Amino acid sequence: MGRAKGVVGWVGFAVLMLLASIVQRVSSHGEQPLARIAVHETVSALDGRVIIKASPSILGARGQNVEWVLLEYSSPNPSDDDWIGVFSPANFSASTCLPEHQHVFEPHLCSAPIKYHYANYSSPAYLSMGKGSLKFQLINQRSDFSFALFSGGTDKPKLMAVSNTVAFANPKAPVYPRLAQGKEWNEMTLTWTSGYGIAEAEPFVEWGHQGGQKMRSPAGTLTFDRSSMCGAPARTVGWRDPGFIHTSFLKELWPNSVYDYRLGHKLLNSSYIWSQKYRFRASPYPGQNSLQRVVIFGDMGKDEADGSNEYFSQRGSLNTTYQLSKDLDNIDIVFHIGDISYAIGYLSQWDQFTAQVEPIASRVPYMIASGNHERDWPGTGSFYGNLDSGGECGVLAETLFYVPAENRAKVWYSTDYGMFRFCIADTEHDWREGTDQYKFIEHCLASVDRQKQPWLIFLAHRVLGYSSGEYYASEGSFAEPMGRESLQKLWQKYKVDIAIYGHVHNYERTCPIYQNICTNEEKNYYKGALNGTIHIVAGGGGADLNQFTTLQTKWSLFKDHDYGFVKLTALDHSNLLFEYKKSSDGKVYDSFRISRDYREILACTVDSCPSMTLAS
Ligand SMILES: [Fe+2]
Repeated sequence: MGRAKGVVGWVGFAVLMLLASIVQRVSSHGEQPLARIAVHETVSALDGRVIIKASPSILGARGQNVEWVLLEYSSPNPSDDDWIGVFSPANFSASTCLPEHQHVFEPHLCSAPIKYHYANYSSPAYLSMGKGSLKFQLINQRSDFSFALFSGGTDKPKLMAVSNTVAFANPKAPVYPRLAQGKEWNEMTLTWTSGYGIAEAEPFVEWGHQGGQKMRSPAGTLTFDRSSMCGAPARTVGWRDPGFIHTSFLKELWPNSVYDYRLGHKLLNSSYIWSQKYRFRASPYPGQNSLQRVVIFGDMGKDEADGSNEYFSQRGSLNTTYQLSKDLDNIDIVFHIGDISYAIGYLSQWDQFTAQVEPIASRVPYMIASGNHERDWPGTGSFYGNLDSGGECGVLAETLFYVPAENRAKVWYSTDYGMFRFCIADTEHDWREGTDQYKFIEHCLASVDRQKQPWLIFLAHRVLGYSSGEYYASEGSFAEPMGRESLQKLWQKYKVDIAIYGHVHNYERTCPIYQNICTNEEKNYYKGALNGTIHIVAGGGGADLNQFTTLQTKWSLFKDHDYGFVKLTALDHSNLLFEYKKSSDGKVYDSFRISRDYREILACTVDSCPSMTLAS
């Protein structure tokens, strides 16, 4: 009895010390007023008998940017809906904020947790014993962390206890490099995130031929504040300081050469902060005849390796990331065609996404297209007036990922990779005849020399071509309404080989098609002219799968209700291999081949040739 009293007394003292340290942190850092108010509310809700402890308190002591943290906790009144939230910065606001609309999800705290687990997740005896433990995997994201135990589920969360603070040894470290093709064929761009602003350090990339002399290229720095967000949750509970986003332009690369690089920040006292070392291969010269392998998918998102819950998890995404990461010796460039992170206004999840794709994006160009979950917001000029971006209105995707577009807020661009020309459309802006985007698409398709770059590929997020997705079929359009109305004559005139989309979360392949009619009877080996365009849906990157309609069309050749991605391999100017692989095992489940010569691209078919004169 006496001993128990002693424990309670000690616990009470420890909690008081902890609260004192929280209050001190808040006042010394001059945080936003909301956080201060919340801490007072937090104090009144805390139960001194509930304990939560995190270890180790210093993470990444050996320079790593990912580490596991062990939590140990106990409660005198355990419940099945007790949960533990991860907060960063550590001095979070635990008061409740009522949602502005249905796209703001539970738990409704004024600072959204980065993620959370139920207290009984790995401790089934928590309910009977009142004690438990679990592990979280944390990534370095520019600030410290604390862990809070709540009762009352996520709909009526009541704060019971807050843990000690843990932090990475250098929370500002440069992390998560993302390669992307530049505006010139021999330029590669490198974008990364850090906690160093331009008044504090000069960002640069140190790079050079593998094993050769190194040089330094400066980087530009961008950031933005809450006022750049268009609505909730991005502007409210989901807001988190994005840190600084740096982009460096590595120029005059030698085709196919391998380069080593690392990210650096030169501090004012002339000392240096370095990232890990990485390596990439420069892109081929447009038209160059060499093996070129391209991976394309949409709608991947992210998920937590520790099994914890986030506001949105894409359970298929870890498999896709894993299959691509382990096959990087056989991949030259990746296109993620929209619905990228599914952060949907919870900004911390963009760090989660860039950390997840780091093995891929730090090694091969990671090119993006814009999707509804990046851009759409009512009254902001998006073609669709829905809430799908969670208030981000494109700012996160357009800052964290470089695209060689004239205007990064209009995500349409052209990029060449050896024998490929890619024309990337932005379906969240109007693409119909008469628009700026339509003009761009026509120019992109028209300006390629098909003798040198025979493989002409059109990419977009929403399905502008053909899909048997249940939703589209129920509308009777088998595509985005107005999708192909004005574009099909361009695809036909400029002889686009393949058009690939996401948005519908499954895989589908059509025959070569024009105006709903198959233009070629072949199914797996196309010799000579296609006479139409093959349309692919590759939206099974990781987000919850979508159903197909039961209606059978003549043009749908292959459907798969599963997670996967597609791969295009240009073997030479006359031979292209297309493969669809499942994310679960990385094996090929559908494929076709195109074999043809230049004169067969030039050959005329319906609506594909300019007029001729009879004069000789
Ligand atoms: Fe989408």
